Amino acid sequence: MTADTASISSQDNQSAPTTHEGILNWVNEVAELTQPDTVHWCTGSDEEWVELTDALVETGTFVRLNAEKKPNSFWAASDPTDVARVEDRTYICSVDEKDSGPTNNWMDPNEMKAIMTDLYRGSMKGRTMYVIPFVMGHLEAESPMFGVEITDSAYVVASMRVMARMGTNVLRRMEEVDAKFVPALHSVGMPLEPGQQDVAWPCNDTKYIVQFPEERAIWSYGSGYGGNALLGKKCYALRIASVMARDEGWLAEHMLILKLTSPEGVVKYVAAAFPSACGKTNLAMLAPTIPGWKVETLGDDIAWMRIGEDGRLYAVNPEFGFFGVAPGTNEKTNPNAMRTIERGNSVFTNVALTDDGDVWWEGMGNTPAHATSWKGQDWTPDSEELSSHPNSRYCTPIKQCPILAPEYDDPNGVPIDAILFGGRRKTTIPLVTEARDWTHGTFMGATLSSETTAAATGAVGVVRRDPMAMLPFIGYNAGDYFNHWITVGKDNDAAKLPKIFYVNWFRRDEDGGFLWPGFGENSRVLKWILQRIDGQAEATETPIGHVPTPEALDTDGLDMTEADLAQALEVDVEEWKAEIPQITEWFEKFGDNLPAVLWTELDGLKARLGV
Ligand code: GDP
Ligand code: PGA
Ligand code: MN
Ligand code: MN
Repeated sequence: MTADTASISSQDNQSAPTTHEGILNWVNEVAELTQPDTVHWCTGSDEEWVELTDALVETGTFVRLNAEKKPNSFWAASDPTDVARVEDRTYICSVDEKDSGPTNNWMDPNEMKAIMTDLYRGSMKGRTMYVIPFVMGHLEAESPMFGVEITDSAYVVASMRVMARMGTNVLRRMEEVDAKFVPALHSVGMPLEPGQQDVAWPCNDTKYIVQFPEERAIWSYGSGYGGNALLGKKCYALRIASVMARDEGWLAEHMLILKLTSPEGVVKYVAAAFPSACGKTNLAMLAPTIPGWKVETLGDDIAWMRIGEDGRLYAVNPEFGFFGVAPGTNEKTNPNAMRTIERGNSVFTNVALTDDGDVWWEGMGNTPAHATSWKGQDWTPDSEELSSHPNSRYCTPIKQCPILAPEYDDPNGVPIDAILFGGRRKTTIPLVTEARDWTHGTFMGATLSSETTAAATGAVGVVRRDPMAMLPFIGYNAGDYFNHWITVGKDNDAAKLPKIFYVNWFRRDEDGGFLWPGFGENSRVLKWILQRIDGQAEATETPIGHVPTPEALDTDGLDMTEADLAQALEVDVEEWKAEIPQITEWFEKFGDNLPAVLWTELDGLKARLGV
């Protein structure tokens, strides 16, 4: 056990049945339905971690990595069919169909419960049922956001220990205040008959990822993959929390949080929403290429934001770890992620296992002559197949990040100065555009588009609208969600709200190469943003917003031709005209639920484009 492990463990390691009646009743009810062999109340202790990971090694789910390379860390390979979020199997089961809106799958909650109750009946036979008390955000928050996940997957327990604050100390606090909590039920859906041998990655072809927004409850079945099974993350901290946020006047968003410090010591806090596998984790841990600039990390995937007493928008990261895309991560693109995982205490899923007991993936460099692929096959550089799944992930404690901002530990969060929306677009969208005001920024977010990635099952590279990068995560009618954003702007002092920007690191040249080098070079864009907020940088007013002049962007030492830079910044009126019918069609989906001001914004854009 390394010193680092001690720092991530919770305080109490006593085995913990509970005096919290609500939890006890629910646990008993689920145990009766699912029929596990035993029930284990998770403590979050180091001893429990050792027991769990030893057992996972025993069943073949985990391979222990070489302690010299990655101490206290493990390699796992999923079933090849269970590698990503399943958006077509994800439901928002609101009482009224209209409340789930045109972007979510819906089924009547009672009907869904009947189907899933049948699936859960006896689904944990032959297995241990784990009870994980957890809190998203700080235990010391004004109203801590409690949850209890019940799962029959030890892999989920190990991963939840990295990703969320959990264990006995959380349970004790829940007992003290008789806390409300989000019940989150998960089963891999593979009961074991007496004597039946388990498989390394149990799952079921039938999958359901279901949110009941009015009840604030989550039912998940059939998948062991992080986004489908670690229910504190996408299901609670985004889908259920977005509904709570609507009702209570705050925002639950798919955003990284970073702290930017200029050479002069000016500090700005930035939140940025990009769809899954579009650069949040990398931007959150960015190592600036421009001298004297500093980035520190607060979060890489989720931001909960509330207006503070001073009228500014404060953000906290409700998570406790990173669940990052592995491929493409290397010493150059994301050295801080490399430092974070090196410290160990991590789980790597669907990457390659090297012969010396380390992990490897495409884009890491130092290609090994031989490795075991994520499918468990021999892999060499000549192999036709990839060594790692494109959505393979590292799951690692946030406290190990060498550039973690100290403010991470502040339950009140940090005041956000800029919000960035961004996506993956080969064409049309310039490197960076500043919105004219909050409503225009909301329009940018509401019309955000991106090419689909391997983070969800289905086709990759298809352009779709992904509003605020929240398409798969809005727990209610997206039209109402846009209205909620507009309302936040209306109800608060515009001067104190963050400025909104739209970025695209992924524009391509004629040969299909990225125009902009990205990664650490994105610090140049952050610099322009900081200076814009302070009224110090030049911009051109275009039909879509304010875009930097080539001179306004710091290009000192940037290895890029003037022509490429001009193309990265270009607002091509013809390309934008082609977007208009798509945006119109997108808005029409929402009928009366679309705030009228967004139509007004579209009319303004059309007029400026001369449509
Ligand atoms: P997240 O899922 O939104 O957190 O995205 P990640 O930061 O994990 O990045 C997803 C993929 O995009 C990885 O393969 C990265 O290497 C790649 N990526 C991230 N930032 C950039 C960038 O600025 N430019 C380019 N070309 N690729 C990037
Ligand atoms: P990502 O997180 O945004 O880092 O890809 C996982 C997901 O959104 O599925
Ligand atoms: Mn995400
Ligand atoms: Mn990420």
